[in-house]
Amino acid sequence: MSVSFLSECKDKVLNRIDTLIPDKNKITASMRYSALANSKCIRAGLIFASGNLNKEISNFALIDMATSIELMHTYSLIHDDLPSMDNDEIRRGQASNHMKFNEATAILTGDALQALAYETIASSSDLTQSQKIESIKALSIACGHKGMILGQQYDLDAETNEYNNIQKIHELKTGKLIQVAVTLPHLGNKKKDNERMILHDIGKDLGLAFQIMDDVLEASSDSTILGKSNKSDITNQKLTYVSVFGKDAAIKQAHALSNNCISRLNDSFVAEEIKDLLSLAKFMVEREN
Ligand code: IPE
Ligand code: IPE
Ligand code: MG
Ligand code: MG
Repeated sequence: MSVSFLSECKDKVLNRIDTLIPDKNKITASMRYSALANSKCIRAGLIFASGNLNKEISNFALIDMATSIELMHTYSLIHDDLPSMDNDEIRRGQASNHMKFNEATAILTGDALQALAYETIASSSDLTQSQKIESIKALSIACGHKGMILGQQYDLDAETNEYNNIQKIHELKTGKLIQVAVTLPHLGNKKKDNERMILHDIGKDLGLAFQIMDDVLEASSDSTILGKSNKSDITNQKLTYVSVFGKDAAIKQAHALSNNCISRLNDSFVAEEIKDLLSLAKFMVEREN
């Protein structure tokens, strides 16, 4: 299992965030409150694990990428919890950002974290110019109107039966950021097009599997273990893999996606270089929160 690997990734990212956001005023206090809270740092883990396959990228460069992706993810959670979105009061085991501060500050905090995510890559001393441009482009596509934000809109539309493609919702709202975490360390390297295509496919499947398990956990676990509400999907009448297929079939689909990624990784790469990716592929569907 990848608990110690993930906790090392988390230490590196939280240390970097601590330096990037000195506690100076209300907005930085709010950014720190959510970005330094207790999280799994799975997306950061995927950056480091996938980065093992690229011998030309430095650990510092991976830290900047991983930090950027976690800042982006934290922004998305703060906005996702807002009263006008999922209206959730607990996140990462503590009051959600708008409950601790207020709604306006939570909106601004999300905006500031998103901007800092791009700044972190643009200002990196260890990424080449082309890696920076490719990374910022990939991140903005993953998170914008063709990616995460479109998924969030479809997720809201599904509450009122205006949209019903559950796979698409999950691939967009959660999958796109996870997929870009897997591919980011390989951007700007034309020689490795084939490897990148394989990682692109794996990232897509892992992203979908992760969100399917998020639906399953919410329907079967409790709020203390999850660190967030276990009633939000029901209250908001969300379309989820559990509401569409039932819990058992949802678990089966998530495991099938994860197993497919594991086989594909084993077939395509050297064992030593993929060990962290393999354990993350398992952890994403076997986790408890
Ligand atoms: C929760 O993500 C939101 C989803 C996209 C499913 P995580 O389960 O990775 O949350 P943290 O970062 O560990 O809090
Ligand atoms: C969150 O999805 C997706 C994004 C933040 C982009 P959910 O709304 O299903 O996740 P939780 O259950 O609040 O963590
Ligand atoms: Mg949501
Ligand atoms: Mg939510």
